[in-house]
Amino acid sequence: MLRLTSFRARIFWSLVPIFFALFVLLGVVDLYQQGQLAEEEVAKRAQSMAENLAYSSRLAVLTEDKSLLNAALQSVTGVADFAYVSIYGERWTPLINAKRKQIESGLIESELTEEYRNKLSQSTESLIKTYTRGTERYVEFMAPITSIQSSLPYELQIASGDQTIAESTKEPQTIGAVRLALSMTRVDAQRASFLKWRGSSLVVFLCLSTIVIYIFSVKITRPINRLTEQAKRMSRGYLNEEIPADSGDEIGQLATAFNEMARALNNQYLVLERKVAERTKELTKVNEKLAETSEHKSRFLANVNHELRTPLSSIIGYARLMQRETEGQISSLQRENLEDLLGNAERLLGMIDSLLDLAKIEAGKMDVNVGLVRIDELIQGAASSIEPMLNKQYVSFIRDIPPNMAPLYSDPEKLRQIVLNLLENAVKFTDFGEIKISVSQANGNFKLAVADSGIGVAQADLKNIFEEFERGRITHDGNYRGTGLGLAIVKRLVDVLGGSVVVDSAVGRGSTFTVTLPVNLDKTGPV
Ligand SMILES: Nc1ncnc2c1ncn2[C@@H]1O[C@H](COP(=O)(O)OP(=O)(O)OP(=O)(O)O)[C@@H](O)[C@H]1O
Ligand SMILES: [Mg+2]
Repeated sequence: MLRLTSFRARIFWSLVPIFFALFVLLGVVDLYQQGQLAEEEVAKRAQSMAENLAYSSRLAVLTEDKSLLNAALQSVTGVADFAYVSIYGERWTPLINAKRKQIESGLIESELTEEYRNKLSQSTESLIKTYTRGTERYVEFMAPITSIQSSLPYELQIASGDQTIAESTKEPQTIGAVRLALSMTRVDAQRASFLKWRGSSLVVFLCLSTIVIYIFSVKITRPINRLTEQAKRMSRGYLNEEIPADSGDEIGQLATAFNEMARALNNQYLVLERKVAERTKELTKVNEKLAETSEHKSRFLANVNHELRTPLSSIIGYARLMQRETEGQISSLQRENLEDLLGNAERLLGMIDSLLDLAKIEAGKMDVNVGLVRIDELIQGAASSIEPMLNKQYVSFIRDIPPNMAPLYSDPEKLRQIVLNLLENAVKFTDFGEIKISVSQANGNFKLAVADSGIGVAQADLKNIFEEFERGRITHDGNYRGTGLGLAIVKRLVDVLGGSVVVDSAVGRGSTFTVTLPVNLDKTGPV
């Protein structure tokens, strides 16, 4: 409920210790003051009792009359808190003493100490002392008993002219002392009960104030929590719920601003939803159209296969048969025409095959058969296929295959077609210089590069030569035959094998096509 990080907990835990410290401080000060007052009260009482007794017992001390002394003591022995009393006469001899029953006698029988005697003989002031004996505390007063000498009859006679003057000129003389002690037990008991009462009221007060602080912190933080809760709900999509913003304070204003923001957000959301619905509708329509087109395309390709490839294969077969069987029977012009026919028919068949391959890849009907690729054999095979087209007089063909390459696991048939298509292009677009095929492996990747010193690709064409039927600037150049499908097939096959292909080329300088494939397609899995 009170997580230490929450705002509520911070309010709570910052107020409780302040209140606690305040109450304790007030309690201690109060207790000290009460104790002081009570002690002063007892001390004052003891002082006035001692001084009164000192005054009233003057005659009894002078005469040392027991009954007079007893009578003087009667005035103090019955008083509340009374502990003990002693009256000392001349030369500090104890004349009489009395004590409360429970008091141990050692306390009063003691003679006056030297220190007391000196102090009493030098001054007529009372002496006070507070001390503890056993568990009890006492406040003790020592009041000197003074007498003025003029009270003697013969002196009165001498001074008969002006008695007052005579008395006032005489120094009061200390003729004894009263020692009176009151017990502080009642004061201490009062203080203890006060402490108990104060302690329990402090605990009750603290509990109450803790509850009040808690309620206060809940009251302060509730609107904030409500705001947070609502913000969470909004983030879950409940945008049309409003936070009550009835309090006119800052939190109320915050809630109003929040509601406005939510409303604006909701409106935006509705607009967005409507737009998405519209677009989805449009997309669905387009999709349907696309599916229809794709259906047409598939049907068209099936027809191409059936209506074009099959008869074309027969034409090529018959033409070859004719070529063989008419050996030596037809003129050289007729033979040339027959060879032209065969060449064109074969190119047409190649083009149809490329189209069908592409269609198959796009339809996702291409199976990936992962196996160990013998890259040197594969390159050897591809090289011998393109060699007849290579103008060996002006163009040299270089193979760079490191001897100890780790085995490559991929689809050998697809890789063969990739190499073949790239080599075909290199041969087709290079009239002199060299063609170099190189392979390497690094960081789990297999790299194959086909570099040539041919005509190069124009900067503007680089981005689209991998698209179907894109042939760039040479489109209308009769010298370079082709349909623009070779690189499109390379790109699709490389994608299927989980790799990538890039080209680096400049017009007149040559081109380098680099294919990167995973070394082990089994681990990566076909894409
Ligand atoms: N090695 C290269 N040197 C220069 N240009 C190239 C090279 N390879 C490809 N190109 C350019 O990219 C175009 C597309 O190549 P792609 O192999 O797709 O088609 P093509 O060779 O023209 O026809 P096809 O391969 O279908 O017989 C080419 O027409 C050519 O302009
Ligand atoms: Mg090509």
